[in-house]
Amino acid sequence: MMTEVKNGVLYIDGVSVPEIAKQFGTPCYIMSEDTVRKNCRKYMDAAEKYYGKNALPLYASKAFSCVDIYKTVASEGFGADVVSGGELYTALKAGFDPKKIYFHGNAKTADEIKFALESGVGRIVADNIEELDRIDGIAKELNVKADISFRIKPGVEAHTHNFVKTGQIDSKFGFALENGEAFRAVKSAAEKKNINIAGVHCHIGSQIFDIAPFVLAAKIMLGFIAKVKNELSIEIKELNLGGGFGIRYVEGDNPEPYEDYMQKIADTVKSESEALGITVPFILVEPGRSIVAEAGITAYTVMSVKTIEKIRTYVAIDGGMTDNPRYALYGSKYEACIANKAGDPCDFTATIAGRCCESGDLIGENMKIQKPEAGDILTVFSTGAYNYSMASNYNRVPRPPVIMIKNGEPKIIVKRETYEDIIKNDTI
Ligand code: LLP
Repeated sequence: MMTEVKNGVLYIDGVSVPEIAKQFGTPCYIMSEDTVRKNCRKYMDAAEKYYGKNALPLYASKAFSCVDIYKTVASEGFGADVVSGGELYTALKAGFDPKKIYFHGNAKTADEIKFALESGVGRIVADNIEELDRIDGIAKELNVKADISFRIKPGVEAHTHNFVKTGQIDSKFGFALENGEAFRAVKSAAEKKNINIAGVHCHIGSQIFDIAPFVLAAKIMLGFIAKVKNELSIEIKELNLGGGFGIRYVEGDNPEPYEDYMQKIADTVKSESEALGITVPFILVEPGRSIVAEAGITAYTVMSVKTIEKIRTYVAIDGGMTDNPRYALYGSKYEACIANKAGDPCDFTATIAGRCCESGDLIGENMKIQKPEAGDILTVFSTGAYNYSMASNYNRVPRPPVIMIKNGEPKIIVKRETYEDIIKNDTI
């Protein structure tokens, strides 16, 4: 997003952050549609440049899902990765072309599979043997053929936080390659009448900076496609390489340009396919974080500043782990600033504490901000991904609204929850 400091005040995309906070209240998520679109275009341009028409980026909507974002990414030509009936429902409500929806998940229910097939989703990405049977059975009942892809663990370990590593064999996601499980799954799917084998998929982790693990995963997956062709005479036409591309949260986070990533993978895909004697598959990538994370910030009001001599200063805000659980969950680091004092020196060391009855409810420790006082507007950067989508109502705290800046105008795309919303499912 375009950030600048004018007269000591933080602006994003030309709009004053303290003004937005005043108009819409805090906490609130503020996002830049321009940035989302620019990020989408980087992927679309790279897909066109390196693969011709033989690739499609899918937006991994778990990063941030609401009706408006599906409309935005669809208008940029993206498909979508959804992982639940709820995400699928939201995408369909946004008018998303079902053919461009890929339905993921390691424990899809029968109802969800039925919903996906009835909606005509492009692919169901099968995770396990029981699910293959379930998909086949439901497709039979509905008298349709399900186009499926297989979630495969290529056994590549990407350097990222443990909790978000998913490529190695010890993972709850997908079929393993090493022990023949993936091969057996393809073989068994080929015998099912209501299943059409469309592709294979892998996802090696999230917030990855290296290109090498992606290249290695692509090679391994192409090797698998070749094995299936040679031994089963089945041609797998589509290779989905998942998401995981890293973004900058704090100084020192240096992701390589997406363009280099797309180019290096494309080179590998082409040369390996040739070497293996297979047709170059249609390529899909599933960026989530790298589309929305840096497009978003969160604005809070400082409630108190509590200095414990020789220990630390707690800066309490009117939000916390309910709107951003990532420090509590993963120790993820963020940068912050006081939006109404953005021109002041950033030399105050703070532990930013949330409002929940939980000591671990922190946004970060040892964070450098301007000297804070109650009433200031504290802004945390790069919160566009996995914040709103992971928000909760712990302590019955209503979820904040999402304000999207569109053409220089802040617009509410998700309303603030009310106390009525909080009790709407309680029987009274
Ligand atoms: N495709 C699949 C199959 C995935 O499982 C994921 C993320 C993505 C794509 C998108 O990955 P991205 O481009 O956003 O890295 N809650 C964690 C992140 C979990 C990611 C899970 N899967 C966090 O806050 O860091």
